[in-house]
Parts: sequence; structure tokens; C-alpha cells
Amino acid sequence: MQAYRASLLRFDEAGRPLFDEDGLLVVGPDAAGRQRVIDAGDFRAVSARHAEVPVTRWAGRLIAPGFVDMHIHFPQTDIIGAPSEGLLPWLENYTFPAESRFSDPAHAAEVAEVFLDELMRNGVTTALTFATSHVASVDAFFEASRRRNLRMITGKVLQDRHSPDGVRDQTDQSLIDTENLIRKWHDVERLGYAITPRFAPTSTDRQLQGAGELAARYPDTWIHSHVAENKDEVQWARELFPSARSYLDVYAGFGLMRERAVYAHCIHFDDDDRRLMRETGTATAVSPTSNLFLGSGFFDFEGADRIGYRYGLASDVGGGASFSPFATMLAAYYVGREGQTKPGLSIAPSQLWWRHTAGAAQALGLEGVIGNLQPGCEADFVVIDPQATPLLARKTSLANSLEELLFSMIVLGDDRLIERTVISQAGQA
Ligand code: GUN
Ligand code: ZN
Repeated sequence: MQAYRASLLRFDEAGRPLFDEDGLLVVGPDAAGRQRVIDAGDFRAVSARHAEVPVTRWAGRLIAPGFVDMHIHFPQTDIIGAPSEGLLPWLENYTFPAESRFSDPAHAAEVAEVFLDELMRNGVTTALTFATSHVASVDAFFEASRRRNLRMITGKVLQDRHSPDGVRDQTDQSLIDTENLIRKWHDVERLGYAITPRFAPTSTDRQLQGAGELAARYPDTWIHSHVAENKDEVQWARELFPSARSYLDVYAGFGLMRERAVYAHCIHFDDDDRRLMRETGTATAVSPTSNLFLGSGFFDFEGADRIGYRYGLASDVGGGASFSPFATMLAAYYVGREGQTKPGLSIAPSQLWWRHTAGAAQALGLEGVIGNLQPGCEADFVVIDPQATPLLARKTSLANSLEELLFSMIVLGDDRLIERTVISQAGQA
């Protein structure tokens, strides 16, 4: 066992923050040898229960759960910041050419390492990420994640139409490849498989049908796609699937909405769509830097809360403009102001933080596993230096409350705040 003394941030079951100014986090191996949180809380109380455990002291630092990025594209690492008029030209001019290179296993392996380095530097310990349509991209990503003991989720992209040579796949083979990859990787150590139709316009009915059948046959895999991001995309989907009530309803019709199904964006929704999300247990990956960068629109936080369905935060790199959870939380704050009818604050800082940690884990069906530092959680955490820059040092020292402290970091923070990222190791019991 090992204990770490610093300020400590956790969340209770209702998503409220728990903060110990002088906290202690005790971690130790479970029966399988994986490091988990044994105890956490106020230093005096917790240390009295674990007097024999050696303590590492990180004075002036804050221990917090590792961030969870609910939607990102590892093969788009190199096209972050590619300017475009909007989603569809961006896909055609930058995304598909970049992704076509991932048929090369060496390229896929190299980018996977760069991407994971970037996640770690930014304190992101779990991501639900797109791969590309190439099997090699999935193998490369899982191999790299496994070597680092990371809890990561990915899957082969399904796109058998309206896609150029180099990324378009073949319907039958794509489904065979998907099932083989599920058997090879799903639930191996900390890895999880996501059945990943790119979005309805680039899949035939037969491919979506097959994806839905696999999702039913392997109910604890994830489903990962995009929906209702951009008005041109919505119109295209409506033309291609005229009998569906809405774009979202296309996925429902193919059995692609259930718990552990995650759809990025969900901007151009009505309340029937929101109720369908709630009733099926489907979650949204809210990606505000991407939505602002590509001019897609504004996620309706108020609508999501009014109907009450699951959502969490995501970067959506390379459409998104930053790997940093601080950038994503700040963008969510800005978007949360949009469309507000009453004056007042946007989303509370601790809620933004929860949506990128324990709330994101809950939306992924991984509550109590990651995203929090309550007893039993896997010990993935970050050590934050609130004095990482001169302005942060001034500002955080002036904070009068937890909300003010968290907000200072959300507004001014970037990767410099993350002093270290600690990953739960698969050691010996
Ligand atoms: N819709 C279909 N493919 C993509 C993609 O790669 N990025 C985003 N943001 N939206 C998409
Ligand atoms: Zn995306």
C-alpha cells in the first residue's frame, strides 16, 4: 500500500464535490494486483486508520481524478487546427486524407504513442477514441495502451459508402473484422471495444444493421458514433433515411441505442430525441471546442438537464481545438451561457469538472471504476500544481471557496497545471 498527502478532490454519488484541504489518498493492490483506492479523505482521519502505510507528501498540490475524454479521434492528432468552412469540407479535405495513412501499421503505432503522450501530459487517463477503418489502427492503439496499463476504448470505424478510396471499407468484411477485434481485445486487461459506425451518412443500411446485431450479441461493448452535429449533415442524413423520424432515430431503428452507446455532439435535437436518449440509456459526448471551432452549433445543456439524460465532456480532437480538459471545460462554460433565458452563472465549476471525470465515467457505464477517487476506484489520478504559472499562483491563492479555486484553474489552466499523471499499475498482489 501507498498513501499520498495533498489537497484532495473527489465526488459523491450525487455528483457533488468532496474536498479535503489536507487530504490523504491510500491506494493498494486488489486480488488481481491492480492498484485501487483503499481509503480517501481528511488526512488526520484517514492516516489514523492506516498508520503503517508510507506517505508521499505533495505539499501545495491537489490530487484529483484522472480526466475522462468521452470522444476523441487518435488518428486526427496531426490535423488539429485545420481550418475549414464546416464539418463536411473538413472531413473531405483534411480528415479522410489523414486517416487513409493508417493502413500502415508503423504510422498507426507512431501516432498512437504521440497521442497517448499528449493525453498523459494533459491528465486524461481514459478516452473513448475513434480509430480509423483500418484494422491496423485498432491493433496499434490497443497495443500501445496495454503497454502503458491504460483504460482505453476504441474500435474500427465502419464506413462503407460516401467515403473516398483509402478509408472506405467493405460491408461484409467490416463486420467480420469488427467481431474478430471484439474477441481479440474487448475486456483484455483494461481495454474495451467500441462498435464504431462513423455516422449514418457513411454507412449502408446493411452495415448499420450488422453493427446493431453485433451490439446486441456483445452487450457490454460500447457503441460510438456522431449525430446531429451540423445542419448540412442533418439534412443529408434526412435525405438518406427519409422514413426515420429524425436523424437520431436512424440509429434507434438499427439497434444502436442502448446503455454504453455514446453519440458525439447531439446539437440539432428536439425533445423527442432527448427522450429517446433518456429512455435508451444512451449518452452524449459534448464537444464544445469542436463545435465552436467547426461552427457546428451549441449543445443545449438546459434541454439535456430538463429531460434528464446522460452526458459528459469530450475534446473531439482533431475537430476539437485542444487536448486540455481545462480548455474543454471553459468552452462548455461559454456554451452553457448561450441560449440562457435568465441572467446568472453558466454551469458551476465543480459540475464542469464532474462532467469530465466521474460524470463522464457514469455516462460511459464505468461509474465506480474510473473518474473518481472513492474507495474501490482504479487509482488513475492527476497531481495538479495550482501555482504552475505566475498568474495561476496569484489567482488560486486568492480563492475564497472550492468553486473559485476550480474556476481559476478552468479559466487559466492548461497542461502546465498537470504536474504528474499516475496510472493504476497491474502489479503483483
Ligand atoms: N462526423 C463524421 N466523422 C466525423 C469526424 O471525424 N469528426 C467530427 N467532428 N464529426 C464527424
Ligand atoms: Zn468526432
